[in-house]
Amino acid sequence: MGNVKKALAAKFDEELRFFRGWMDKPKAVGSIVPTSGVTARRMASIVRPERDDMVLELGPGTGVITRAILQQGIKPENLVSVEYSEDFVDRLKRDMPGVHFIHGDAFDLDNVLAPWKDRQFDSIISAIPMLNFPVPARISLLESLLDLLPAGRPVVQITYGAVSPVPANRGTYNVDRFDFIVRNIPPAHLWLYTRPEGRTARRTQ
Ligand SMILES: C[S@@+](CC[C@H](N)C(=O)[O-])C[C@H]1O[C@@H](n2cnc3c(N)ncnc32)[C@H](O)[C@@H]1O
Repeated sequence: MGNVKKALAAKFDEELRFFRGWMDKPKAVGSIVPTSGVTARRMASIVRPERDDMVLELGPGTGVITRAILQQGIKPENLVSVEYSEDFVDRLKRDMPGVHFIHGDAFDLDNVLAPWKDRQFDSIISAIPMLNFPVPARISLLESLLDLLPAGRPVVQITYGAVSPVPANRGTYNVDRFDFIVRNIPPAHLWLYTRPEGRTARRTQ
């Protein structure tokens, strides 16, 4: 098979796997096609591979964003990626050996991140379908995520709504629009959340 045909077959295979995941658990998967390469690269652009710090990903699905994070230069052993669907996790582990793929619930961070207890991460990239969860759960998750980062370092979140899925002025975080990407199905909004220097982490308040 030629290279172009191989690439098309791989893309089709990925989209089919993703669609099957959506058929099984539409609410959890949230979208019927994977994130576009453009969006994945934009989200992955927040990492700082030169620092050799750990990065956390939530909701890798078939791994489009995971690949973009690795392509930025993050070492597989420095990437922890939490995915709810066991089928996706099995395949991800085969496709990207060395990455710490965890089968678990991003809303149960204490358990899923137990092996990295007290470790700081440098940045967090999230594709979990936030809009499918109640607002208080979204705020609580974001605060827990920011507890894992140094002040000023970001959580980036993809969503398909025009407003931030985590409302501003409800916690110890800032909300910034990062990008709007038309070359995504559906067009994607990217949001950045940071805890400013000097704000006390929620858990120690
Ligand atoms: C919209 S898909 C995004 C997949 C992939 N990152 C992409 O961009 O194509 C959302 C992913 O989040 C996963 N997910 C949903 N809820 C989750 C949770 N509570 N914890 C971990 N993963 C979750 C789904 O199984 C699915 O793989």
